[in-house]
Amino acid sequence: MSAIEPVPGLDARVLRDALGHYASGVTIVAAVVDGEPAGFTCQSFYSVSLDPPLVSFSVMRTSTTYPRIRPGGRFSINVLSRDQHDISSQFARSGTDKWAGVDWSPTDAGNPVIADTLMWLDCELWAEHEAGDHLIVIGRVLQHSPAEWHSRDPLLFFKGKYRHLRDADEWG
Ligand SMILES: Cc1cc2nc3c(=O)[nH]c(=O)nc-3n(C[C@H](O)[C@H](O)[C@H](O)COP(=O)(O)O)c2cc1C
Repeated sequence: MSAIEPVPGLDARVLRDALGHYASGVTIVAAVVDGEPAGFTCQSFYSVSLDPPLVSFSVMRTSTTYPRIRPGGRFSINVLSRDQHDISSQFARSGTDKWAGVDWSPTDAGNPVIADTLMWLDCELWAEHEAGDHLIVIGRVLQHSPAEWHSRDPLLFFKGKYRHLRDADEWG
């Protein structure tokens, strides 16, 4: 790929602040690597396709966990619930014992489902696309949490802070 010219007048830090105005949920992308669970906090998750069932996220090239997950070609996506901000922070710290005190069980394929999440998916790697300092990862969904699992409220991330839904604000 040829060198990309910087965009005049665009400041990466200011752009990052602007992009922080897009509210999202928070996930943990996880797998079992050499018998041990591995995972990282990931906000860039979104659904792509129902037929075939595809989802996606983007991962920083500096991630040390994704290159360990990748060779297995399978991973889970754990959508965090309202009170799981500590888990989000814990899985965002590179090189630490991210799973200390975290209760989890395996999917049929063996990938970690973190207890008390809002929703989970089990995926196989479908495609990867290079995109600047990130890699866009697309997964094909093989299994998902059952309907009775989906009883909690989400953990949200907005303007660099964790947020909760206010029940009174529900309409439509
Ligand atoms: C709320 C939140 C959302 C994040 N979203 C992403 C993301 O979408 N993609 C990504 O690569 N890193 C994201 N990160 C940063 C990674 O979690 C962090 O860099 C990673 O855990 C580093 O650990 P590793 O070296 O073990 O991969 C996010 C962090 C936080 C706190």
